[in-house]
Amino acid sequence: MGTFYVTTPIYYVNDVPHIGHAYTTTAADVVARFHRQLGDDVFFLTGTDEHGNKVEQAAAARGVTPREHADQMVGKFKEVARKVDATNDFFIRTTDPEHEAFVQRFVQRCHDNGDIFEGTYSGLYCPACEAYYTEENLVDGLCPDHGIRPTFMEEKNYFFRLSAYQERLIRHYRANPDFVKPRHRYNEALSFIEQGLDDISISRATLRWGIPVPWDQSQVIYVWVDALINYLSALHYAPGENLVARFWPATYHMMAQDILKFHGIIWPALLLSAGYELPRHLFIHGYLKLGGEKMSKTRGNVMDPFPLIERYGPDPFRFYCFREVNFGQDGMVGEESFKARYNSELANDLGNLLSRTVSMVDKYRNGVVPAPPGRPPAESPLAAEAEQAAATARIRLEAMDLSGALDGIWDLVRRLNRYVEEQAPWKQAKAGDDAALDATLYDLAEGLRLLSVLLHPYMPGTAVRIRARLGLSADAAALAWEETAWGRLPAGLRVVQGGPLFPRIEE
Ligand code: MSP
Repeated sequence: MGTFYVTTPIYYVNDVPHIGHAYTTTAADVVARFHRQLGDDVFFLTGTDEHGNKVEQAAAARGVTPREHADQMVGKFKEVARKVDATNDFFIRTTDPEHEAFVQRFVQRCHDNGDIFEGTYSGLYCPACEAYYTEENLVDGLCPDHGIRPTFMEEKNYFFRLSAYQERLIRHYRANPDFVKPRHRYNEALSFIEQGLDDISISRATLRWGIPVPWDQSQVIYVWVDALINYLSALHYAPGENLVARFWPATYHMMAQDILKFHGIIWPALLLSAGYELPRHLFIHGYLKLGGEKMSKTRGNVMDPFPLIERYGPDPFRFYCFREVNFGQDGMVGEESFKARYNSELANDLGNLLSRTVSMVDKYRNGVVPAPPGRPPAESPLAAEAEQAAATARIRLEAMDLSGALDGIWDLVRRLNRYVEEQAPWKQAKAGDDAALDATLYDLAEGLRLLSVLLHPYMPGTAVRIRARLGLSADAAALAWEETAWGRLPAGLRVVQGGPLFPRIEE
């Protein structure tokens, strides 16, 4: 048992949420739920990034103040977390007064430590990234992420001595080869640092919508500095005891590659400057793509997951995310493949396994799960395989291989379906082989109980529904990871008949 602190990026409220936001939040939730199953002390944070140019512009376009805009949008982002069934412990808004005050204290510390100086900034600025670009970093003169032409800007700013942290960052990367995962993202970040770091502008003179620089109220703090500090500020005022001492440094910051440089370079340098420990790991997952391109609000090619969640519940969406796209890599998503997977894997593989098992217990044993006679439960031919599947899933989940873990769990689902065919309980019943039939029925029910524990991080509602059909409770203790030991299912449970777990989607 340990502590585990996982975060998502805080999302911009300039536009409505989309599947990319739901994806990272879901991934963090899978991991948070898994660590709670292990008995870890878990804190899971998500929230919204509400200051800066983008939000100011979006508000202006709608004819409302930035605050009104943020207040109207934040509900939609909170709703995403609810809709995907996320168990975040807190939802931070960067307009929370406690966050604002903490950011000022933090930046003041960097200033007092001599890391902030005054200078003039000029360069090519992409308002969608809220970032400056050099010519070399543009693609055909356009922002590589948003495909828009950056504009030339010049202003007096405060600068952070990022260059002074180059060597310390390199040393930190070398000493912590798993600081950024997967490996190719680590290499990318490290080689960027090795190429040399320039000092960065950390304030804006032209913008009003932000947190004032504490020693110069005519400027606001650059939105990215404001935003990154959320991971630490939240622990100072979220409800809970001693959160900073318990949860800092964060175990995992999760995100896509678009914001790796901010988290892999600027954030650790700011923390070093202000005198804090660095997060243990960043995990960089891939992009969900539609029609071959990264989905983005700016590009307008966004798949809307919310009608699918409305219709089929959160679990099929959660399942699809990690099954369809190898977590850590980019991958295509779409409604067709969602429906295909739903039908073949949820309705067929898992749904049928449950309905066959419950129906056979009903038909052959009057709805009561029999004891496996003549052998201790743990001697089932399935015991070793099931426990091996659980051990593998654990190792993979601990390594953030969310797709690999789910693959292994699905092999167990398919193994149990094959077991039905191999044992052919209908033949055992016909032959009057009661001992063999009892063993088969017990094993299937026990396999499903194990699956409910293994599937809980991915499909929490489904885990509860499977258990209800087996007559099992679904409290936290019953879902603890140690419950993946084979043979814990008590005999004599009364199963509950019911409709299909996942009704087929008919076109
Ligand atoms: N506000 C900043 C983050 C500040 S964190 C201190 C920001 N916000 S954002 O709304 O643009 O969210 C970016 C993040 O959303 C990505 O890093 C990723 O987690 C998620 N995704 C957005 N689009 C995505 C895809 N198409 N695919 C996968 N994840 C995506 O950047």
